[in-house]
Amino acid sequence: MSVTAVVKNCGSLLEGPYWDLPSQTFYFVDITGNTVHRYKPANGSHEQVNVGENVGTVIKTKSGKILVASKCRFAYLDWSTGALTTVAKVDKDLPNNRFNDGKCDAKGRFWAGTMGPESSPAVVLPKQGSLFCLHPDKSVTKHAQDVDISNGIAWSLDNKIMYYIDTLTRMIEAFDFNLETGETSNRRPAVKIPDEEGFPDGMCIDTEGMLWLACFSKARVNRYNPITGEKLKTIMFPATNITSCCFGGPNLDELYVTSSREGISDEIVKNEQPLAGSIFKVTGLGVTGFASREFNDL
Ligand code: BGC
Ligand code: CA
Repeated sequence: MSVTAVVKNCGSLLEGPYWDLPSQTFYFVDITGNTVHRYKPANGSHEQVNVGENVGTVIKTKSGKILVASKCRFAYLDWSTGALTTVAKVDKDLPNNRFNDGKCDAKGRFWAGTMGPESSPAVVLPKQGSLFCLHPDKSVTKHAQDVDISNGIAWSLDNKIMYYIDTLTRMIEAFDFNLETGETSNRRPAVKIPDEEGFPDGMCIDTEGMLWLACFSKARVNRYNPITGEKLKTIMFPATNITSCCFGGPNLDELYVTSSREGISDEIVKNEQPLAGSIFKVTGLGVTGFASREFNDL
């Protein structure tokens, strides 16, 4: 297995990894840098656009557009200008909230959650966030509330379970999931993450149904069996604040990993983790995953 920094020092709070299979392009965001990025591994090109507000997640849509969960709204992004066009608003009475992590389910609904203002990494105004779902008809439903930091989301291979992380619970939780309706029920713990593994942040699932979890503050991505709760593997990175991961590459056998340098002093970055705020790629995993899913706006 090998870890390489593929886009170095390209932002502050890098998040929202998204592998666009049709164009072989890796999209991601810099939440506090207010930017959406795209990187093409085939020729090494890296572009970014400023959207003027904190942007938590970027995804593609079936009609070929770019959709973001940004500040307190779902919005289409015009890549050529950075202009956002609101699709739906959330948390209307909580103007200091912002969207964080999100992902589409197998029916093309876009799930994303919010959080309250953060004074330093993982120190947040408590219980301000919620988990929302944007449906293809553009209606929005709420599926969790009193959330501290809404984070990783993934679905079991049979789509009967939705895995979800509210970071400060230090757990991956499970909901029963109804793929046809998007309803969630029976929230319960699935994997407990011990303090020494860090804060559970973003995650994705592989073709064996195992979860790959970004462990914020502890420089690692861990692979877990969500049925038994067992930890199966650890990959270490040269940056402590690992925020999320997704599968990518032509064969979906590479893991793209985002990191943060937000809240880390210039001195520590310089002396201890000069690659904080970079994108890493892991090869030689011995397992494949799935391309990121599009929003169904057809
Ligand atoms: C958020 C950060 C937060 C971190 C904690 C990330 O998903 O974007 O603001 O500090 O989670 O794990
Ligand atoms: Ca995250």
